[in-house]
Formats: sequence, C-alpha cells, structure tokens
Amino acid sequence: MKIGTPLTRSATKILFLGAGELGKEVIIALQRYGAEVIAVDRYENAPGMQVAHRSDVINMANQEELRSLILKEKPNLIVPEIEAIATAELLKIEQEGIAEIIPTARAVNLTMNREGIRRLAAEELGLPTSTYRFASTLEELRSSAQEIGYPVIAKPVMSSSGKGQSFVKNPEQIESAWEYALKAGRVNHTRVIVEEVIEFDFEITLLTVRSREASGNIATSFCEPVGHIQVQGDYVESWQPQNMSASALAEAKRIAEAVTTNLGGRGIFGVELFVKGDKVYFSEVSPRPHDTGMVTMITQNQSEFELHARAILGLPVSPVLTTPGASAVIYGKLEAKGIAYEGLDQALSLPNTEVRLFGKPESFERRRMGVALAAAPTTDMARITAKEAAAKVKPVEG
Ligand SMILES: Nc1ncnc2c1ncn2[C@@H]1O[C@H](COP(=O)(O)OP(=O)(O)O)[C@@H](O)[C@H]1O
Ligand SMILES: [Mg+2]
Repeated sequence: MKIGTPLTRSATKILFLGAGELGKEVIIALQRYGAEVIAVDRYENAPGMQVAHRSDVINMANQEELRSLILKEKPNLIVPEIEAIATAELLKIEQEGIAEIIPTARAVNLTMNREGIRRLAAEELGLPTSTYRFASTLEELRSSAQEIGYPVIAKPVMSSSGKGQSFVKNPEQIESAWEYALKAGRVNHTRVIVEEVIEFDFEITLLTVRSREASGNIATSFCEPVGHIQVQGDYVESWQPQNMSASALAEAKRIAEAVTTNLGGRGIFGVELFVKGDKVYFSEVSPRPHDTGMVTMITQNQSEFELHARAILGLPVSPVLTTPGASAVIYGKLEAKGIAYEGLDQALSLPNTEVRLFGKPESFERRRMGVALAAAPTTDMARITAKEAAAKVKPVEG
C-alpha cells in the first residue's frame, strides 16, 4: 500500500460525491493520512466541503456534469456518499478504468434502487425479507397491497430518509399513499415497493467492513450491532451494543456477510435488519457509513468513518467496541440560514458526552444539524444522557 503527498503529482486523490455530515467525518479521517480530498455536493459550503482540499457544486444526477468533473479531477477513488447520483455513469467510469468506485459501481447502482437490492437479497441470495411487491400504477399498488394483506408500507424505490413512505392501514389510504410517493420520489414516473409490516422486537444496523488483510485477501468484520429508533423513516436515536441472542446475532452476520460479499469492493456497509425473536429479516443496505452508526464516534477507537477511510485506502481495520454508548439527533427546529447554537457548554457538562455540529448553512425544522453522543456503563444510561445533551443544544437565529 502506497500513499502520496496531497497537492503534488504523487497525491492519492479521493472524490466525494455528496458531502454531508457522514462524508465530513470520513474526509477528516482521510485528511489525517494525507489524502487529497475533493468534496462535491449540490449546494455550497456543505459540511464535507468545509474540511476538504477543494469543492465543486454540480448536479450529481446529471451524467455529463458528473463525467466532466471526474475527467477534470482524475481521482484515484470515487466515494459516493448519497444515493441520488447518475450511477449508470459510474458504471462506465469504472469499466473504462478511469477511477475506482467505492465499494464498486455495481454496489452503488444496485443499492440506490430498492428494487435492485431487494431482488438481489431475496431472489438471488435467498435471504429472509418481508413479503414485497413492486407497483408502477395506483391499481398495481392497490392489488399488491391486497395480496400482501393490510397493513403495508409503501415506499418509492428511489428515495431515502423515509421520504415518500406511508404506513397504509387499509384500502381507503392507498390513494394518498400513492400521491405521497409520487411527490417524494426522485423521478416523475414513480415506482413503489409495497411491503408486509414486520412487527419486529427491535431493528439494528450491522456495520460490516470489507478490508484488505496483510495477505492481500479481503476480510469481512463486524461492529457490535447498533440499535436505533426511527420516526417517520428517519433516525432519531441509536445505541451500541444492541443486546441480542447469540443465534440472532449469528444469523444477522450470515445475512450481512452474504449481501456484502456479493456487492464486493472495500469499505463499510450499514446492513439494516429487523429482529423478531430468533428470526432476522434483511431490510436494506448502505454501501457507505450509516447515520445510525454515528454512535461509533464515542463507542469505538475506530469509528465507522475511520473504518471506512482505512478500508478504502487498503489499510487494516479493528472494529472493536470500547464502551457502550448512544447518539441523539439535534434538529434545526428553525427555518433559517446561518443559525447559531446555545447550550453547547451545558451539553458537554454532562459526563462522557460529545457533540458534533455539522455546520450546515441552512436550517430546516426537521433537518439534522448535529448529534449528541454519550458513553456510559450501559446503553440505557447512555441513551438518557445523549438525549439530555441533545436537548441542551438550542438552535437560535444567527
Ligand atoms: N417492512 C417493514 N416493516 C416494519 N418496519 C419497516 C418496514 N420497512 C421499513 N420500516 C421502518 O421504516 C424505516 C425506514 O425504512 P427503510 O426501508 O430503511 O427506508 P430508508 O431508505 O428511507 O431508510 C425502517 O428503519 C423501519 O423502522
Ligand atoms: Mg433505512
């Protein structure tokens, strides 16, 4: 493994497609190894841009804009941080040998569409998932929901963070679920996945790392499971480790290994699983750090961001837990640009806490602007403290 000097001919250049709070932390980790980082997003001063060597603002869903930027920068590695990218162009870039896509162009392409990854997991790999159907019209949605049996969950196949998702209790709610999915999908003609509702005991993210060993082989390793709570499809709280039976954990690892081995490449994956008794269901996977995994910034010596940085550079990793801990999201609560935050001092007066403020230029009521982290002897204690710390940070007009 060889790494260059940034801003010289020998530089190891890494292009981030998407520069939000997760990318920001990976970039910080890469900067420490002396990588040269270019951060790209659709708006100026995105969190990751504030810690990169330079940045560009483009529409990443546009094939021509994406290609010309890649040809201009000639990066060694391209790290997609969001889903809404012209992934078909990334497949070409990889094929033409222009740059390496993390973890692979195919993984990025399959996971940006719920249909691609769900069919791979359930139909090709035979992994357990909720019962599902796909629908492209209101009528198809109605008949699919009927076949599965109410209640169901409907989601646009191209969407994230719960956008366009509906919990549909009965046939009367089908039409509004369709309208809602149409409005929120990334494209005009919407396609929707309809799923059986799994009444899980808890859900986890199993952070799974594919990294190169000294022998040159790729090894798979796992962080302790991260438990989390989602509200309207968006994460509000997470903790690690999630307590679970040995057999459920073994099954979770089996599923995560099967999916990530198929997707290939190097890097961290957030494998989302539902656990009910000893039964584990695959839900979806991010081929990149996961928002619920921000808790690892306080629970592990090598956070999910450090693990990702190491794995993509071809370095060894150690995903060991050092303490139980928890994270709680800090929301914008205001609709304003250039806001300020009060109470950081009070939040950090709580024992074993940390706060990250992402530096997003514009706040929205439900926008994630920061996160509070707490370490404690138990996850229950850590959860209480993390929530307390998050509540002490008050967004105010700037
Ligand atoms: N089939 C399901 N049964 C029960 N809960 C679900 C199901 N699908 C989604 N959820 C809930 O909604 C959350 C968001 O759904 P997910 O498919 O992960 O969408 P996103 O890509 O927006 O994260 C999940 O973390 C889970 O809490
Ligand atoms: Mg999810």
